[in-house]
Amino acid sequence: MGITAVIRSVSHHVPTRRVTNEDLSKLMETSDEWITERTGIKERRFIEDDSVTTSTLGEAAARAALEKAGWDAKDVDLIVVATLSPDLYFPGVGVLLQQRLGCRTIPALDIRAQCSGLVYGLSCVDGYIRSRQAKKVLLVCAEVQSPVLDLTNRGRDMAVLFGDGAGALTIEAVESLSASEAGRGIIDSYLGSDGSGAEVLCMKLPGTARPGFIKSSDIEEGLVHPKMDGKVVFKNAVTRLLETAQVLLMRNKVTPDQIDLVVPHQANLRINEMVRQELKLPPEKVFNNIQRYGNTTAATIPICLSEAVAEGRLKEGNLVLTLAFGAGFTWGGNLIRW
Ligand code: COA
Repeated sequence: MGITAVIRSVSHHVPTRRVTNEDLSKLMETSDEWITERTGIKERRFIEDDSVTTSTLGEAAARAALEKAGWDAKDVDLIVVATLSPDLYFPGVGVLLQQRLGCRTIPALDIRAQCSGLVYGLSCVDGYIRSRQAKKVLLVCAEVQSPVLDLTNRGRDMAVLFGDGAGALTIEAVESLSASEAGRGIIDSYLGSDGSGAEVLCMKLPGTARPGFIKSSDIEEGLVHPKMDGKVVFKNAVTRLLETAQVLLMRNKVTPDQIDLVVPHQANLRINEMVRQELKLPPEKVFNNIQRYGNTTAATIPICLSEAVAEGRLKEGNLVLTLAFGAGFTWGGNLIRW
């Protein structure tokens, strides 16, 4: 008898503090026109104060997802967290959420796949479920990135892109789907990586590659902030997102017009437009909200999924394709019958 990983609920939580392009133009030489034209972003959310961390944002999203699924925290038997901005250098956010949510002493693990966190996470959860190691899984994607951005002219190319936020999903192992749920679940995932791009988009510190761990000169040189060669990332993103879509569609014998909703990572509206046009999809079949949140790294896709459900654009039985590309480089996607 086959076993399927069915998504029972999705929810999100973002800080209340809106930071507009106009706000950023008071801190650095940038403009609403430049940011909107190059990226599509109009505003993003930054944490209100230091009491908000990746695990507190993740906890809020997780509690909302548990409630929607009708699960108690004690029902969960595996926590998977995707983040590049953990509360602590170690341990990971998974164990912090185990504690905060009041889960049993179940396994909790963190995935480091940056902007591909959700697609790697869903693939990982699917594997645990299919190998019968977990039945009720909480997948949390959360990021607090604003404190490490260089909000000066030096860091303006990166600082205008990112925001804070979290999304969470509950995923259940179903042994045999009822007639009304037939076909639901994670159908397939495709993942890739290319470490030759590691330093094209990275944050070098804190890290063990540098003797002395962190020196004051490293802080002055800006090594504690993320850095990117945007043009190289842009080209790789378009290529790998299309590769992912083509592989998932071909090996599951699905044509683009059969997809109800594509939910891509939110790094740049132009990237997502190029992918949409290449797949010959109408605008309403691709969900974007980068305009309001910027790039929340691992959290972009779950925030989109959560809003798509709330707006009635994603309904039970729909065929969904997620697509992501990020630092690593890492990339991938999931084909899901919602
Ligand atoms: N405001 C105003 N000007 C800025 C700026 C800002 N925030 N940041 C950079 N600039 C300037 C640059 O200094 C450069 O000036 P110059 O021509 O005088 O040298 C000019 O704008 C063009 O910069 P460039 O980097 O060529 O812009 P771009 O068209 O490549 O757009 C990105 C930059 C980052 C928006 C784009 O490359 C991108 O989205 N890349 C992919 C990001 C991504 O996919 N990430 C995914 C993983 S997270």
